[in-house]
Amino acid sequence: MISETLISTHHGGLTGQFDVPGDKSISHRSLILGGMAIGTTRVTGLLEGDDVMATGRAMQALGATITRDADGSWIVTGVGTSGLVSPDKPLDLGNSGTGVRLLMGVVAGLPIAATFCGDDSLSRRPMARVTDPLVRMGADITARDGGRLPVTISGTATPLAADHVSKVASAQIKSAVLLAGLNARGTSIVREPHASRDHTESMLRHFGATVRQSVEDDGTHIVELEGEAVLTAADVVVPRDPSSAAFPMVAALITEGSDLLIPGVGMNPLRTGLITTLQDMGGQIEIANERTEGGETVADLRVRHSQLHGIDVPPARAASMIDEYPILAVAATQAAGDTRMRGVAELRVKETDRIGVVAEGILAAGGTVTYDEDSMTVTGGQIAGGMSIDSQHDHRIAMSFLTLGMVSTAPITVTGCATIATSFPGFATGMNACGAAVTDGGA
Ligand code: S3P
Repeated sequence: MISETLISTHHGGLTGQFDVPGDKSISHRSLILGGMAIGTTRVTGLLEGDDVMATGRAMQALGATITRDADGSWIVTGVGTSGLVSPDKPLDLGNSGTGVRLLMGVVAGLPIAATFCGDDSLSRRPMARVTDPLVRMGADITARDGGRLPVTISGTATPLAADHVSKVASAQIKSAVLLAGLNARGTSIVREPHASRDHTESMLRHFGATVRQSVEDDGTHIVELEGEAVLTAADVVVPRDPSSAAFPMVAALITEGSDLLIPGVGMNPLRTGLITTLQDMGGQIEIANERTEGGETVADLRVRHSQLHGIDVPPARAASMIDEYPILAVAATQAAGDTRMRGVAELRVKETDRIGVVAEGILAAGGTVTYDEDSMTVTGGQIAGGMSIDSQHDHRIAMSFLTLGMVSTAPITVTGCATIATSFPGFATGMNACGAAVTDGGA
């Protein structure tokens, strides 16, 4: 159990090796597609975080068999799409936007029904962006006012192939439509303004579906999936999560004397925007030993303390680092000059309003930030700390401010930390093993 309150105190450099956990996005997809496939899939390196476990329980309730092997790998026995059944209780996806949105797509495209619910944070997040296209594909959906959870979906045995134009680049929206399209007659198409992470596309191909990706002259990204697909079980090796690696990476860059190795990190180019950005800011991040493991490119990262400088982060890069803006803002407090983050309105509908919560937190810690609806500019300078931040039960906010406490003059206390278990259960112990001082502040 992770304590609700953690305190982070200035310390010497981070050294040694930090093994971050498996990729959250890929872990969710391995359990979902494994459960929809015919046969048995072995998943190695699965993230055993609360979010992924919630998806696993939901897939079990839908008819898949999921067990943990003695060697730590997970065995998923799927029943084929036609074998999934209506669960007898609501599916509670806890804090997980990915779990709930992808599973809505699964249910919508099959002749089964399910009610979806989640915690307070998930219940505040917009679902119409997913349910609207699923209704057009033929599902019958009711939601609370404003398209929020709980949502009840009666799926259809004969979904219509989609041609969905998404206003935002979102892998969750895209994946929900593709999963519903698996059972449609004809080709489902999703168009998005920039490329979002393509783990669903890669894993669908790995399980035998036909998926095409292309880019139009105006930059629109297109994914096409052939319907009436039969998925066949195929083992999955989950790479380590670049979004979790982001925390030790930034911690090492900003704490004097650091020289840290973070091995085996997923290097999908649609996930590495933060590495590029930190390198542009002068961060010494060496990418070594690039190799393919289980069909994904991974590499070892060596990160050394660096004098960073502010930059203007290109808005077109946002989708490839959407979960990393809170920790980038922390890095930016230690960079000379201004770091401008534009085109990031999507941050307002994550686990919390991540523009508001990050900016107000940095201001409370003694930093300099300006922000508006879709942008944030952080000016570097010494952070006083000596205060308490409410993470509002957002795992990435909690880990970001604990990282800020590593360089603030006085310690930073963060409340609402138990939620770190959704994505990175070993965050505090791993940081401390490398030299950080994150201590228990009580329940
Ligand atoms: C995810 C997609 C992103 C990201 C989330 C994980 C995924 O959300 O923020 O943490 O696994 O598909 P959006 O697709 O809504 O941007």
